[in-house]
Amino acid sequence: MKLTSEKIKNLSIVTVVGARPQFVKASAVSRLIDSKPNVDEFIIHTGQHYDHNMSGLFFEELGIRKPDVNLGIESKRHGDQTGRMLSAIECHLIDQKPDWVLVYGDTNSTLAGALAASKLNIPVAHVEAGLRSFNRKMPEEVNRVVTDHLSDLMFAPTIAAVENLRREGRAMEHVINVGDVMYDVALRVAGKAAHQSDILTLNNLRRGTYVLGTVHRAENTDDRSRLEAIVNGVSKAAEHVEIVLPLHPRTRERMRQHGLSLSSNVRIIDPVGYLDMTSLLISASSVFTDSGGVQKEAYFHGVPCLTLRDETEWGELVSLGWNTLLPPVHEDEIAEAIGSIKRPQMSDSKPLVYGNGNTSSLILEHLMTMAAR
Ligand code: UD1
Ligand code: UDP
Repeated sequence: MKLTSEKIKNLSIVTVVGARPQFVKASAVSRLIDSKPNVDEFIIHTGQHYDHNMSGLFFEELGIRKPDVNLGIESKRHGDQTGRMLSAIECHLIDQKPDWVLVYGDTNSTLAGALAASKLNIPVAHVEAGLRSFNRKMPEEVNRVVTDHLSDLMFAPTIAAVENLRREGRAMEHVINVGDVMYDVALRVAGKAAHQSDILTLNNLRRGTYVLGTVHRAENTDDRSRLEAIVNGVSKAAEHVEIVLPLHPRTRERMRQHGLSLSSNVRIIDPVGYLDMTSLLISASSVFTDSGGVQKEAYFHGVPCLTLRDETEWGELVSLGWNTLLPPVHEDEIAEAIGSIKRPQMSDSKPLVYGNGNTSSLILEHLMTMAAR
């Protein structure tokens, strides 16, 4: 039986977030929850990301309520960071006794939230379930697999994600293809970014004349030879095309540790908020990245993308021709590829593979329905 939200009184959700992409994803659902008088949300921020431009700015710009608690865990080794989160989240869950714990994506904050809840027999709902790179060396892959196997409700963003969960033997009645919650956010924010962001003017950038880049993934930054190939490849590409690089703090730190530096031709800026990022992306001629989120946002905004990784969880974009994969091993290959990112030949009516922009409504509807069973 499908119950409507009116039939359910006071559904309570604890949302666990901690890293930049989770603030973006949670903004869609948390804003919707705020508009529902019969749904209570308690937001736990683990403090995994803590610089203002990696955290607080996203709450302000995306209109998310301030977290009810910030655990302030900050940067640590994986076990230490995840363990401290687990312990602290557990205390809050014991106090809150929610109907659901809602987690997003694949970070250590995701894993800690899912693990703390499942140990207390509190149902876990995972947004962005079923994504797989099939590379267990990625910390995110371990987090995703474990989180999905602890989850009572798996919100998959794509058909491929549903199939991954089916192959892993997850109960299909707990897997729902709701589309991608980042698409909701991209649709909502695009117009606002165009009006409110002055990042192009501030940096003297003209539409369509520059390539935007982001690099932060552990496998690209912790490994000196890969980071060196990227740093040198990007520097060489910048001899021919203008490159704007909002530099993730991890990458800045690893470059310092490895004694690597980018050419002064590369326009390095601090990480930007979501409005500035959207504005930079929409006006870029192309983007290179190793981010999960940016690969999809490039597609949402019609910007061709080069992904500096060995594999991607978002394979449908590669099949579509919108995204090209390049393992970042040789600097000359990287420079050449950045200089020649092409818009794919395709019809105007792009196939919509990430839902209809109503993913957050579907998520909330299912949380209400399932809690009422
Ligand atoms: C984390 C996630 C990754 C996600 C990324 C989004 C894990 C295992 N990794 O990676 O999946 O794609 O967030 O950006 O959960 N730092 C700061 N200030 C901050 C945050 C981080 O200076 O506010 C620096 C510190 O030097 C820190 C490093 O960045 O050691 C890495 O931070 P961490 O949260 O461990 O991992 P990310 O690389 O950000
Ligand atoms: N982003 C941002 N400012 C930046 C870089 C990225 O707002 O300087 C946004 C980006 O548009 C996307 C999200 O952060 O919405 C992706 O986060 P990140 O690349 O850190 O993580 P991933 O998606 O790889 O997990």
